[in-house]
Amino acid sequence: MATINHKELIKNHMNVVTIALAIYHLESELERELNFRGISFEKHDRLYCLDADYSPLFAQVTWRHCQTIAIASIGDAIKKLKALGRNWALYSIGNHRRAQLIQDGLPKLNQEPVPFLADKPKHPMGGWTLLDENSIICSLHTTSRYPLGAIEFVENKSVPPSRAYLKLWEFFTVHCAPPTPGTHVIDLGASPGGWSWVLAELGCKVTSVDKAPLADLVAQSPNISFLQESAFGLSPKQVPDARWLFSDIICYPERLLSLINRWMTDSNVHHIVCTIKFQGQADFVVIDQLLAIPNSAMVHLYHNKHEVMWWVTRI
Ligand SMILES: C[S@@+](CC[C@H](N)C(=O)[O-])C[C@H]1O[C@@H](n2cnc3c(N)ncnc32)[C@H](O)[C@@H]1O
Repeated sequence: MATINHKELIKNHMNVVTIALAIYHLESELERELNFRGISFEKHDRLYCLDADYSPLFAQVTWRHCQTIAIASIGDAIKKLKALGRNWALYSIGNHRRAQLIQDGLPKLNQEPVPFLADKPKHPMGGWTLLDENSIICSLHTTSRYPLGAIEFVENKSVPPSRAYLKLWEFFTVHCAPPTPGTHVIDLGASPGGWSWVLAELGCKVTSVDKAPLADLVAQSPNISFLQESAFGLSPKQVPDARWLFSDIICYPERLLSLINRWMTDSNVHHIVCTIKFQGQADFVVIDQLLAIPNSAMVHLYHNKHEVMWWVTRI
């Protein structure tokens, strides 16, 4: 796992197939994940080079099916990248000025903040870096259509009481269509009310549950009913017509898993969407237990911190 220089990477490791960009400050979680999965890696700044086709959970973006290209000049690099694809995002690990001059010669990326529920960009977003003066490693098969996996929103800075609403905005904009207006949804761990606000604005009938109160502006919404109690005490029988269950509760992942199992068994909800929060290090055993639930998926959202988003759709 020793860090080598970038030139050695291309000389010794022509079989790099995947590059994962670690999440800022969560590099150690990516390393723990790769060790847990038995995948060896070489680290170059925040880029982790793997010789396996694996998209890590703790990556901001993953470049799959990477290819190396020899370049003779800046112009040659621009020509070769343009011939491969339209959109390219640079993560520079060396030869920074040369890399930036190449990037400047490529089509300009749209870096504008996006509105909630905006259509996804039509074209794939490639990723590339300079390994040395004359070598590029790049991928057109990346896990995000946004540059380096970063999605910034046109934020609402006046109403939502916390920035937690951005997680749900990202989830609905990128990963899953939102509930339709009129759907009864439950929001567990709802205070101060960012998620409840998003759901109420979508026209859902929201039952919000938290031991702490909602912010006044959110609590006033005619679409929200608030129960000030523990989320773990709420019985599915109290809300028989609820179709979506959301949870942003701060609790141990094991406790959340038993809550999920209960709602999977005893309720009529079709969708469950939860943040899984880690107090210390991420627990990959619990992560795998959650992923073993059929029709479920997990991502680390750009707006997640030391937590991941898990959801299941029951058809
Ligand atoms: C990250 S905050 C939720 C933020 C919220 N989703 C928003 O958008 O504003 C986590 C919440 O979990 C709540 N919580 C922790 N334990 C709980 C429990 N047993 N029952 C209900 N809520 C709980 C906390 O009171 C806290 O408000």
